[in-house]
Amino acid sequence: MKLTRRYRLAASHRLDVPSLSVAENRRLFGKCNNPHGHGHDYVLEVTVEGAPDDSGQIVNRAELDRLVEQRILQRLDHKNLNTDVEELKGVVPTTENLAMAVRDALLKNWPLQVRLSAVRIAETERNRFELAI
Ligand code: NI
Repeated sequence: MKLTRRYRLAASHRLDVPSLSVAENRRLFGKCNNPHGHGHDYVLEVTVEGAPDDSGQIVNRAELDRLVEQRILQRLDHKNLNTDVEELKGVVPTTENLAMAVRDALLKNWPLQVRLSAVRIAETERNRFELAI
């Protein structure tokens, strides 16, 4: 059985590959290449999978929330993804890379009995990335 919890985080970024030309970066990233950056209200979904225990639950939701709060939200919310997040330094902070960084931060010494099954991040109403684990 799977449970998905939804969280919100706001962060800014600029998508740019320094080794490419201005025109090439514009072509690759469009408005997300704007030199001064811009923000997104990301919606993060974390899905866990397991069997219900004696309490009838697959996970203690407060424990899952605390994990996401400590490892993700406290470190990323209202931050600049280009400069403020250690594991994103040196990579283009696309939502693809953000999803992988979130997965890695959660999986490191994963303390819960349930399995982490997926990380999804919606960047806009039209873009949602899903990372199956
Ligand atoms: Ni953007």
